[in-house]
Amino acid sequence: MTLSRIAREVKTSATLAITTKAKQLAAQGIDIMSFGAGEPDFDTPENIKDAAIKAIKDGYTKYTPTSGAPPLKEAICEKLYHDNTLQYSPSQVIVSAGAKQSILNIVLVLCDTGDEAIIPSPYWVSYPEMVIMAGATPVFLKTTDKEHFKITKESLARVITPKSKLLFINSPSNPTGMVYTEKELREIVCFAVEKGLYIISDEIYEKIIFDGMKHVSPASFSDECYRKVITVNGFSKIYSMTGWRLGYAAGPEEIIKAAVNIQDHTTSGASSITQMAGLEALKGSQNSVATMVCEFDKRRTYIVSRLNAMQGISCLLPHGAFYVFPKVSDLFNRRISGRTVTDSFDLVNLLLEKAHVAFVPGAPFGSDGYIRISYATAMENIEQGMDRFEKFLNS
Ligand SMILES: Cc1ncc(COP(=O)(O)O)c(C=O)c1O
Repeated sequence: MTLSRIAREVKTSATLAITTKAKQLAAQGIDIMSFGAGEPDFDTPENIKDAAIKAIKDGYTKYTPTSGAPPLKEAICEKLYHDNTLQYSPSQVIVSAGAKQSILNIVLVLCDTGDEAIIPSPYWVSYPEMVIMAGATPVFLKTTDKEHFKITKESLARVITPKSKLLFINSPSNPTGMVYTEKELREIVCFAVEKGLYIISDEIYEKIIFDGMKHVSPASFSDECYRKVITVNGFSKIYSMTGWRLGYAAGPEEIIKAAVNIQDHTTSGASSITQMAGLEALKGSQNSVATMVCEFDKRRTYIVSRLNAMQGISCLLPHGAFYVFPKVSDLFNRRISGRTVTDSFDLVNLLLEKAHVAFVPGAPFGSDGYIRISYATAMENIEQGMDRFEKFLNS
């Protein structure tokens, strides 16, 4: 059988292999401490659930316009104005089944065969695959913990070519938790725009931010930035709504219109019920967000101090999201638990087998010398998981 180019070129999720193995071990009755989750461990707030139930009871169960239910789009415009000083009209907004679908729509709208899309590395695993689906080429701009996982105008200048079309920005970042300051981001984005690049600003972790850092949206930097930046956001992380599948993008009308055309022939948009839940999320009490961020903050400082006390591990204190991305390359070529560790996959596999803790290797995020640990799990689990990790390293 000859599979299509997309089927041949798009990789399976390398992170899934570890998750599957962790689940298999758990099914055998082994007590696995899992740090793989890319989703908050909090429940969706009650007012949001109630709004969905009401939508069902009220019969709000038919197709909405592909670009999203009008009241939700209005609420998104209000949110972007109040939180991000961005003025959009509903015709500049597309609501999708998750931010993931919004990002894919925009990539398909902007990228063609032969185009290059610049992806700062470490990156969220889906960016390169989406670029490949569009037939374009991902160009990775590597960063390490030494640069706090940040690109600069200078490093960006080194990878821009006449084929460069798009730049991905993700602050706060998955997998590193890195957050750009306004000054840093302004310099990078204004330079990219000057060079003619479009920018996808993935702001899905916008509100999960610590240490008084302030989130800024690059589309707000100048009129030119407003014309070149597509702002993506969603409900999965901020409102613990991963399973509801709701996200959106806002940007120039021409781009959004083309994205709606694509969505017309794929999903026809997000579920009507989910959209009413999203409307309540934006309009209702925001107390749950503050409670969640406060809890994440405690876990973050604890986990970083535990990791930095371990031999061979060094971990930056991230300023956003709910991940830490410690450097583990000092453990490579060392004998631990009777085996020589070769890379991040090997380390994570060994940790799962011997210590029964599930982390995610850094390699699928483009950085093999690291592992990703999600602290979207209860403090008791974090304490136990760190105890197991420490014991493993001493074995
Ligand atoms: C950086 C980043 N962008 C986008 C998404 C997609 O989120 P959604 O659940 O809204 O599709 C994720 C989810 O893990 C993410 O980490």
